[in-house]
Amino acid sequence: MNIRQMVHEDLKPCSQVLEKAFGQAPHNETFVLGNAEQYLTKKFSYCGESSYVAEGEDGKILGFAIYNVSVWANGPQAILEEIAVDPEVHHMGIGRALMEFGNKQLNDLGIEAMMLWVRKDPRLIDFYQKQGFQVSDEYIAMFK
Ligand SMILES: CC(C)(COP(=O)(O)OP(=O)(O)OC[C@H]1O[C@@H](n2cnc3c(N)ncnc32)[C@H](O)[C@@H]1OP(=O)(O)O)[C@@H](O)C(=O)NCCC(=O)NCCS
Repeated sequence: MNIRQMVHEDLKPCSQVLEKAFGQAPHNETFVLGNAEQYLTKKFSYCGESSYVAEGEDGKILGFAIYNVSVWANGPQAILEEIAVDPEVHHMGIGRALMEFGNKQLNDLGIEAMMLWVRKDPRLIDFYQKQGFQVSDEYIAMFK
């Protein structure tokens, strides 16, 4: 497996991974045709420099992670906008490897503060806690 920066040609295979990964529990999303690619294309337009793909030896896209880097009050910060791994290769450490790669790249840019929002699902929370994230008691997500 190789992890590298995402390029425009990756958007279609990444959107297929997105649809497959979020089509399963706990998300169970059904994407309207074209929406997944449109969603990723928009993210890629402003996060391309900090978006990474994991590809197999045959060049097949296995997963991806997209970070949004910006400058906040006292320095740069990153938000994990999206991460998804093809369900056929879950539990093989690809998600962890993508996050470790992203962490390294972003740390090299001087980014130490990172945040993300996550569905209240114990396995997902566990996944991020293993990467050093902690549940905040200072912020909550709100929807309308
Ligand atoms: C979360 C996700 C990226 C993990 O990818 P992965 O390559 O399977 O991750 P790793 O092999 O490095 O680690 C596996 C860990 O992920 C966590 N996990 C959470 N949801 C999972 C799922 N649906 N399948 C497998 N692992 C999952 C578990 O903690 C698991 O640990 P375990 O193997 O001890 O049970 C992947 O499950 C996925 O794409 N899920 C759907 C999309 C998603 O939920 N993205 C995050 C939105 S907040």
